[in-house]
Amino acid sequence: MSTDLSTEIQNAVDGRRNFAIISHPDAGKTTLTEKLLLYGGAIHEAGAVKARASQRRATSDWMAMEQQRGISITSTVLQFEYQDCQINLLDTPGHQDFSEDTYRTLAAADNAVMLEDAAKGLEPQTRKLFEVCRMRKIPIFTFFNKMDRPTREPLELLDEIEQELGLKTYPVNWPIGTGDRFQGVYDRRTQEIHLFERNAHGKQAAKDTMIRLGDPRIEELLDQDLYYQLKEDLELLDGLGSEFDLDEIHAGELTPVFFGSAMTNFGVQLFLDAFLDYALKPGDRKSTQGLMSPEYPEFTGFVFKLQANMDPKHRDRVAFVRVCTGKFEKDMTVSHARTGKTVRLSRPQKLFAQDRGSVDVAYPGDVIGLNNPGVFAIGDTIYTGKKLEYEGIPCFSPELFAYLRNPNPSKFKQFHKGVTQLREEGAVQIMYSSDESKRDPILAAVGQLQFEVVQFRLLNEYGVETRTELLPYSVARWVLNGWEILDKIGRLFNTMTVKDNWDRPVLLFKNEWNFQQVQGDHQDLRLSAIAPLSSGMN
Ligand code: G4P
Repeated sequence: MSTDLSTEIQNAVDGRRNFAIISHPDAGKTTLTEKLLLYGGAIHEAGAVKARASQRRATSDWMAMEQQRGISITSTVLQFEYQDCQINLLDTPGHQDFSEDTYRTLAAADNAVMLEDAAKGLEPQTRKLFEVCRMRKIPIFTFFNKMDRPTREPLELLDEIEQELGLKTYPVNWPIGTGDRFQGVYDRRTQEIHLFERNAHGKQAAKDTMIRLGDPRIEELLDQDLYYQLKEDLELLDGLGSEFDLDEIHAGELTPVFFGSAMTNFGVQLFLDAFLDYALKPGDRKSTQGLMSPEYPEFTGFVFKLQANMDPKHRDRVAFVRVCTGKFEKDMTVSHARTGKTVRLSRPQKLFAQDRGSVDVAYPGDVIGLNNPGVFAIGDTIYTGKKLEYEGIPCFSPELFAYLRNPNPSKFKQFHKGVTQLREEGAVQIMYSSDESKRDPILAAVGQLQFEVVQFRLLNEYGVETRTELLPYSVARWVLNGWEILDKIGRLFNTMTVKDNWDRPVLLFKNEWNFQQVQGDHQDLRLSAIAPLSSGMN
């Protein structure tokens, strides 16, 4: 490789950070995203992101939007520059559009920001997404939002993360009061207090007032009881809290914690500055050729998500590729590991908010959108140079199950074709009852929206009207020790045995309690919430 190219890639990697936000609906993800982008000057007007999110809220609106605009709006990568660093925010869809895509996006992220509403603490969707981060061992940054409103006790919030997620915490800043009495945060990095001014910086990058801990003016600026409380809290954190350890942060074992208020743009810059210092830059990835360093000169990447266009007039599909190594250039020709075909990557798209500009070059840590004429499937690797394949993207445990019925037998062929293609694309998981007399496919999804998308697309793209019949199960576990053990055990109460697309046994339980009970009664059953990777996704 020429030294020039090697320096170019090295510089690009050093100056790049990518992350995804994991949160529960309403924690403030859209608001925080918008404020982060303000710092990068990527959007000029607060509200641009917000508008998108609220339009997205109702499913029917979302579909109408997809049709109207003819492009994908559910999946975007927002890029912005901050302090000479290019930051890629991989947008995980929230709200009702929670689906496997949300999980898969985390497979492409190098860092995660766990955003919590400080009045609520850990919420279900955040917990689920956290599990994926834990599996990948990526750094997790915690931001407690809405400090301008009454919140839970900060120490209790930390304790919840430690106890329930088993994640150590290190508060980088610490709040002074909450709600009506929120007066600012203390930054443990610089030992400065940043004073909160209500409503001062809603729409612009904030310049807040800082004061050092020993400054005599503190007595005037802070309520005395809050000042004493702060001193007490800090002593406690210094004495009993975890020590700062960057290696532990990088291993996903310790989370740096921040407090702020995205709506009033308070604490966002403090967070961003620390994030840049602590976040992992694009790193090594496991492949069939061993660990690939981003500086490896050949271009390689993998597909982590496919997005189909809802508009029948523009039936293109976009494959989202995470660049892992080397340099991507427009019009380059690459090999497609699964099929062995050669593909020319023309018309690559840069995915920024609502405009899809064209991208000429991209580096490790970037995401590009490729028009997908049916070649790409989730988990596929593309490469130049020596053949390699990246570790697949696992199937995540579905929580909603429904028979998909085709009431019109003359449409059987289209029905079958549509279901197969949507499965291959990763729009939904398909399972079948182990009872051979029940042959209708079972849709298995993590969010209701996936069912709607499947039905909508079967109708619009394959001309098949379908019905769904919800099944009363909410927990799925793959049986790692195969069919024999199930034959041995015999009938299990309140569970259904199904097979996934590769004929592997999966048990469906009514609820978590049933699952625990069965596991307790049959300890030799090896059950997993995540499908084994070996058979691949397709
Ligand atoms: P999401 O994308 O995670 O679902 O959350 P979003 O940003 O849409 O925020 C959810 C609600 O929480 C919004 O109120 C938003 O204004 C509010 N919010 C976000 N950050 C803060 C904060 O730091 N402090 C306070 N007090 N509120 C915050 P909404 O009433 O649903 O919408 P809107 O009428 O404000 O637009």
